Amino acid sequence: MSLLIKNSGLMAATAVAALVSGLVLAHGDVTPQAVETKGLTPLGDDWLEENPYKPEHPEHEAAVKVGASAYNQNCARCHGLEAISGGIAPDLRELESGIEGDDWFIYRVREGAVRDGRVYMPRMADYMDQEAVWAIRTWLETVSHGY
Ligand code: HEC
Repeated sequence: MSLLIKNSGLMAATAVAALVSGLVLAHGDVTPQAVETKGLTPLGDDWLEENPYKPEHPEHEAAVKVGASAYNQNCARCHGLEAISGGIAPDLRELESGIEGDDWFIYRVREGAVRDGRVYMPRMADYMDQEAVWAIRTWLETVSHGY
C-alpha cells in the first residue's frame, strides 16, 4: 500500500483518502466521503459522550449544515435520503433525543454493527472527524420524530 502511495504522484491527502476508501470497500462496501467541517471548532481527540452542538451552542447552525451534507455523503445510502429509511437500515429519525440518544448514536457510529463476521454497518467514525460525527447527530435531531 505504501508503494501505491509513493508511485501514485497524487498529493498525500488524496492518497490517504483513496487508501481509506479502499479499506472500507474491503470491509463493508462503503465509500466514505471526506467531510468539510469548516466553521466547527476542533473538539479534540477524546470522544465526547454528549452532543456538544445543542441549539444554544454558537456553532449549532454551522453543525446542522455540515451534518446534513455529511449524512447525505456517508449515511444516506443505507439509512435513506433525508433520514427516511427505505427499510434496509433503521430509521434514524426514531433515535431518542438528548443524552440517551447521543449515547446510543455515538456507540453505534464508533463500533459499527458486526455479527458473525458480517458487517451490517462499518465503524463510520473511523473515517470521519468527531466534529463531523456530532454534526450528523445535530442534523438528525432537527428531523427527529422526538420522544
Ligand atoms: C453499509 C450500510 C450503513 C451505513 C453506510 C451506515 N449505517 Fe448505520 N446502520 C446500518 C445497519 C444495517 C444498522 C442496524 C445494525 C444492526 O442490525 O445491529 C445501522 C444502525 C445504526 C444506528 C443504530 C440505530 C438504531 O435504531 O438502533 C445508528 C445510530 C446508525 N446506524 C448511524 C449511522 C450513521 C450516523 C451513519 C453515517 C455516518 C451510518 N449509520 C452509516 C447500516 C449502515
